[in-house]
Parts: sequence; C-alpha cells; structure tokens
Amino acid sequence: METKENDKMEKIISLCKRRGFVFQGSEIYGGLAGTWDYGPYGEILKWNIKDLWLKRFVRDREDMYQVDAAILMNQKVWQATGHVSGFSDPLVECEKCKKRFRADTLIDAKKCPSCGGKIGAEKQFNMLFKTNIGAVEDENSISYLRPETAQGMFVNYKNIIDTFHPKLPFGLAQIGKAFRNEIAPRDFLFRAREFEQMEIEYLIKPPKDDEWKPVFESLKEEMINFSKDIGLDEKHIHPIEVAEADRAFYSQRTIDVEFDFPFGQKELYGLAYRTDYDLKRHSESSGVALEYLDEETKEKFIPHCIEPSFGLDRAVLAVLSDAYTEDEMNGEKRVYLKFSPNVAPVKVAVFPLLKNKPDLVRKAREVYAMLKKEFGNVEFDDNGNIGKRYRRQDEIGTPFCVTIDFETIEKDGAVTVRDRDTGKQERVEIAKLEEFVKGKFK
Ligand code: GAP
Repeated sequence: METKENDKMEKIISLCKRRGFVFQGSEIYGGLAGTWDYGPYGEILKWNIKDLWLKRFVRDREDMYQVDAAILMNQKVWQATGHVSGFSDPLVECEKCKKRFRADTLIDAKKCPSCGGKIGAEKQFNMLFKTNIGAVEDENSISYLRPETAQGMFVNYKNIIDTFHPKLPFGLAQIGKAFRNEIAPRDFLFRAREFEQMEIEYLIKPPKDDEWKPVFESLKEEMINFSKDIGLDEKHIHPIEVAEADRAFYSQRTIDVEFDFPFGQKELYGLAYRTDYDLKRHSESSGVALEYLDEETKEKFIPHCIEPSFGLDRAVLAVLSDAYTEDEMNGEKRVYLKFSPNVAPVKVAVFPLLKNKPDLVRKAREVYAMLKKEFGNVEFDDNGNIGKRYRRQDEIGTPFCVTIDFETIEKDGAVTVRDRDTGKQERVEIAKLEEFVKGKFK
C-alpha cells in the first residue's frame, strides 16, 4: 500500500508519540517549540546510531581522538569564530499582527501568511542562545549555549597535541548537544532549537594544491557507508556540491549530503573543507600558538581541517522515515518499522504461547534471560493473542519474535522464530538461537 508522502510525517510523529519514541518537549505545559523529548525506544534508537557512528569513525580507526567539551564556552570563542557578529538568519515581521518569520520561508515576501498584513523590512536575527554565568549580569558574564560542537574540538586541539602527540593527519571527534534559536523550527526533528551533533574535525598538513582532495573523498565515502550502517536506502541519499556563492566564506569546498525526507530532499549531513580558518582565528584571538610541529621536517604550521558534520536527530528522522512501512499481512492492514537490526531498539521479543501454562512461561523466561544477556534490548510479552503481540513488536520495529510452544517442551527443544518483514516462521533449536539472531546483524 502506498503511503502519501504528505501524510507520512503525521503518521511517523503519531507513531513516535504512541509507542514512546519521541514526545513534544514540556508537553504537559503546552510544549516548547523546537524541543523534543526522547522516550525509551527513541533513546535506544538514538544510542544505536551514535554507537555505529563511534564504531565507524572512532573505534575502528587509529587516528581519532574523542572529546566531550563543555556546552558553555567563553564568549571569546564565539567572537573569534564570527558567530556573535554573523550567525544569523533573515527575519521579517508583519506590521499588523507582529508575527515574525524567516524571510526565506515566505511564499509571498510582502504578505503575512497569518493575517495578510504587510511584511516589514528584512533584518538579521542572531541565532545564538545567550545567557549569563554567575551572580552578576554584565557584559563580562555573557556566555552562549554552543551552536555547534565543532568549536569544543578546536579549542581542545592544543590539549590533544600536548597529551597524545598525534601524527598528522588525525581527527577530533565529538557527540553532543547544540543549540540554535531557530526563527522557524519545523518538520519534527529536522529543525529544532536543541539538537545533537556528531562532528569530526579532521586535521591535515597544509596541502599543496589538491592534496586535500583524497582525504575529502574518503570521508565522503565513509559518510555514505555510515548511512548504510544505520539502514538508510542508498537511493535516498544525494551528495550535493554546494556552489561557491552558497558556501560559508571560510569553506573551500562543501558537500551537503541530502536525503529524501517525506517533506522533500533536504540536508542530512555536511562535509566542509574549512582550511585553517578556525585554528588561525583561535590562535590570533587567544594569543596562544596553535601551531603543529612536524617532528620529521621540524616545520611549524597551522593544520587545515576537513569537517564531516552529522545531525543526530536528522539521522533519527531519516531512519524512521525509511523504516515506516504500511502493508497487509494475513488480510489485515499493518504498520511496521522496517529498521535494520543494527538500529532496532528491541532486537528480539520472546513470547510463551499461552500465559496460563507455567511450563511454557518458565521456559520462555529462560530463553528471554539467555537472549537478554547477549543482546540487552530484549522484551518479554505474554499479553494477548500471538497476532496482537506480533503487531506490537512490528510497530516498534523488532526484527524477530521468538515463541515457546508445547513442542518446545515436549518434543524438540526448538522455538519458532518469526521474521518481521515477511512474517515467515522457522524452527530454531534453543542452543543455536543466539547464533541465528547474531547472523542477522552486521
Ligand atoms: N560545524 C558545522 C555545522 O554545524 P551545520 O550545517 O550548521 O554545520 C551541521 O550543521 C548539521 O547539524 C546539519 O547537517 C544538520 O544535520 C544538523 N543541524 C543543523 N541545524 C539543525 C537544527 N536546527 N535541528 C536539527 N539538526 C540541525
């Protein structure tokens, strides 16, 4: 059954709320625009994505240094990078109802979409969340919630050099929250005011001519490989070259990795060659030398940086969007999340065929304990008929359901394993169950 794309987002949002993936932030107080709270299944999904990212970009490599910098940073950081003066979006206000809009989202630039009133002149709106540190509120106590995790790495570059003495090229990696006072948060997790990023600042020797290009290309490939790790359909991923006029002024090349979201093809991740802009600015502004000493050549220089930047919440939304499926099984409509087993919040569910048969329940509990030890996120369910239990697990994307029936106990010591996508069932010996499930993971 085809799902209309414009309904699809509503259905995903509704499923996320109904099944405990994602809730509106501060919901009981009427919500807080641009904030989302992850429930238990959403949180596991998010961690599974982070874990696959860490595996591909940090744990499986020898050249990555992971950090976790503070969200609040000295205001001088954001002055140095140009965020205080220039991290802004175009804002317009309706002269009649005073509603504010992001100028580039209006269909008619002169008319208010809310009341039809006249739209005023365009201004720049700075997206930094400003706060004050300590008991005194003055110019010196100003701080900002970081709008990107990147700068937490640049300001720790010297610490990493001094403590680990890494050889170039090497990367700094960080996962953490970022905050932007977006004028128009929208499209669920896509554009929020508080969100999470997974970023890498990959540092290389100042390149001669095109020497940076192979590194850029290999990071681009890894970004696509990671998308496959989390189960995204390669056909929905489009690396788009950003034209010079649209690039950040410090970027010599940018690729936006776009994805076919239900509301259109939009940026999922970005890859930018930031040159030596950030380290140079921090060195000039702090007065601290941020040069790298090449032990072999005895040359000193400021490394250049290639930055793969991932929005974690956008990745969650992309995974949900590719997984959301409607079909018919055994003459009944069903909704299920076709997650890759790698990201599925629940890996296996275990059912005794009947709730009121102590032998079945005992055996099912044994199998559940065994699988839980191995896979962690395993559920036990003895509530309602088997068909209903399958539907509940389908809706949260559990790849396998294991049923313990009379034959398990009386005859063969085997269980029925049912596949989420096909509904096909097969008998698997309990002793081989762990291996069987593991074989389905990457
Ligand atoms: N350090 C570079 C940087 O922050 P960016 O393109 O502004 O670059 C990187 O952001 C990624 O962060 C985006 O590709 C997107 O995935 C995510 N992102 C940016 N703004 C977001 C928002 N308001 N809500 C959710 N994710 C966002």
